[in-house]
Amino acid sequence: MYKIAIIPGDGTGPEVASEGLKVLEAAGKKFNFQYETKEFDFSGKRFLSTGKLVDDKDVEELRKYSAIFLGAVGDPDVRPGIIETGVLLKLRFALDQYINLRPVRLYNPAFCPLKDKKAQDIDFVVVRENSEGLYKGMGEFKAKGTKDEVAIQISYNTRYAVERCIRYAFEYCRKRNKKKKLTLCGKTNVLTYAWDLWERTFNDIAKEYPDITTDYAHVDATTMWFVKNPEWFDVIVTDNMFGDIITDLGAMIQGGMGIAAGGNINPNGVSMFEPIGGSAPKYTGKNVINPLAAICAVSMMLEALGETKAAGAVENAVIKVVANKFKSLAAGKMGYSTTEAGDMVVNSL
Ligand code: IPM
Ligand code: MN
Repeated sequence: MYKIAIIPGDGTGPEVASEGLKVLEAAGKKFNFQYETKEFDFSGKRFLSTGKLVDDKDVEELRKYSAIFLGAVGDPDVRPGIIETGVLLKLRFALDQYINLRPVRLYNPAFCPLKDKKAQDIDFVVVRENSEGLYKGMGEFKAKGTKDEVAIQISYNTRYAVERCIRYAFEYCRKRNKKKKLTLCGKTNVLTYAWDLWERTFNDIAKEYPDITTDYAHVDATTMWFVKNPEWFDVIVTDNMFGDIITDLGAMIQGGMGIAAGGNINPNGVSMFEPIGGSAPKYTGKNVINPLAAICAVSMMLEALGETKAAGAVENAVIKVVANKFKSLAAGKMGYSTTEAGDMVVNSL
């Protein structure tokens, strides 16, 4: 019996989460696994009415769950950064979800903005470090508000966190068993402290994985290759900030935010799965947002829970729907409503 915590969140989060849950229910029936869910209201609305975000008691409660499924957070009525740090980053850090796993896979070439790319040309996974780097929140102002103001934002990298992330990426690449190529994406030519540590660690760990081909690309060049030769990539490992940036580009080449999912993984604890597109507030309540990213997040969650067959079947159901039915993957342009899209995946499953 799995215990799944549901955080519907803000904007269109609740709408896509409920389609994800529809598919989870169908998968449970088909593959014979049992689960119970509990909803947690961590959202901008709750913050505005109570001042509450995620506190330590909430974190202790969530530790008892098998997984967390999150719709989206971010409310235009709340100053940017409050919900993001108070809910999403708080959970990532407090639950030590030190990997942000973001598959980039093109299900239907018709939805790819790149010319002449086939489905098999875009099939890679970004392993983003999810616990430190620039996201650590270290820094300070000096002479704030004066003409001499200085703002310092520190990228904090420990050998411990860099090593566990790189090791995860090597293991993942081996298990994925495709091109067996791991690319380190960094900036060794300028960020000479952080990326020196990353590169040394990468080279050290690589010795333990003689079956994996290694490669290096600067982050700026990586964005170029994503557009020019995405077929070169298999698994990419990078830090928190670069991973954040390149996975939005990754989402676009796989067909857009409507299809892009991610997992915040603690391999020894509670992981959290989410569509990466955000709360898209302008579409709230219109039944037009694309729920496929949330459904793909459910597939990733099932994989992490060990329900491998169910995970594969949900992904295949999405692939079928995307291959034959959708006019577009963008909100309002799918040719179907949010709830219809969810039903189609259930039927396909
Ligand atoms: C993401 C988002 C978050 C991040 C924001 C909402 C804090 O952009 O999951 O990629 O920067 O990690
Ligand atoms: Mn992002």
